[in-house]
Amino acid sequence: MLNLQRPTAPTDRSMVLPPMIPLEEILRLRLRLAQPGILFPQEFFDSEDLSALAGDPALELLSGYKFSDYSMEPTALAYLKEIFTTYKPKTIVELGSGISTAILSYLLRSLHGPDAFIRYVTIDQSQDYVDQTWSMIEEVGTTDIVKTIVADTKPMTIHERETACYDIKPELVAEALDGHQADLIIVDGPVGGGSNGVKGARFATVPLLRPLAAHQALFFLDDALRDTELEIAVSWSQLDYLEVLGLKAVGKGTLVGCYLDAAA
Ligand SMILES: C[S@@+](CC[C@H](N)C(=O)[O-])C[C@H]1O[C@@H](n2cnc3c(N)ncnc32)[C@H](O)[C@@H]1O
Repeated sequence: MLNLQRPTAPTDRSMVLPPMIPLEEILRLRLRLAQPGILFPQEFFDSEDLSALAGDPALELLSGYKFSDYSMEPTALAYLKEIFTTYKPKTIVELGSGISTAILSYLLRSLHGPDAFIRYVTIDQSQDYVDQTWSMIEEVGTTDIVKTIVADTKPMTIHERETACYDIKPELVAEALDGHQADLIIVDGPVGGGSNGVKGARFATVPLLRPLAAHQALFFLDDALRDTELEIAVSWSQLDYLEVLGLKAVGKGTLVGCYLDAAA
């Protein structure tokens, strides 16, 4: 049945989340700094940032892994690890595969007993990157819980906005989730920056995944300190079925939000 009432804010869930910066404060800072793109880090992260993943068992298994500009940064991964550990999600959908898939699927496995249904579905626009991710998944030993989906990007109009995003086939994702809904969503794609990125391409991601998201599912947006992603955060905060909970200033910024209602 269609629920036309705005549900109450999920205070229970935010209580288990570490403190974040409210979106309004980041926006105010960005406006007063005036210069376009000024909040988005330009320097590659350093060894202190890398130490956030010291002792990570999956990274240790991937001894040859080299972080690139495209990888999720160590401090952002460490933050997601903290969220996984407190919130204990079971079903993940990730957009943009890579080192995040290896590290977080390994952690997902270690957090749950052998009888729990756990699944990590990762969607990518590139077969090559899926293949690279799969090699890492084989190395860390999570092939039984990770499912990969290749979805090219295509132009689309969503919430009256013309954009381009993954051509997500909901039935394929539902099948990969084995009929379960996703209780945590990680958005680190499509490529949104650089010469091959489509600016604002991540706007459609969270709305597109709405039918597959569990009630009050959490979502995380990487690269959230980029101007286009801050604009996306504002647009999402104006949708009545989403709550933007705040931003963590780790890596290139991690925005945190949740779906307020189950799919209509
Ligand atoms: C931000 S990356 C995703 C990174 C991933 N979550 C990780 O932690 O490694 C978004 C997309 O960029 C593409 N990509 C990754 N590395 C790339 C590279 N070196 N050059 C061009 N595209 C790349 C992949 O298709 C990937 O899904």
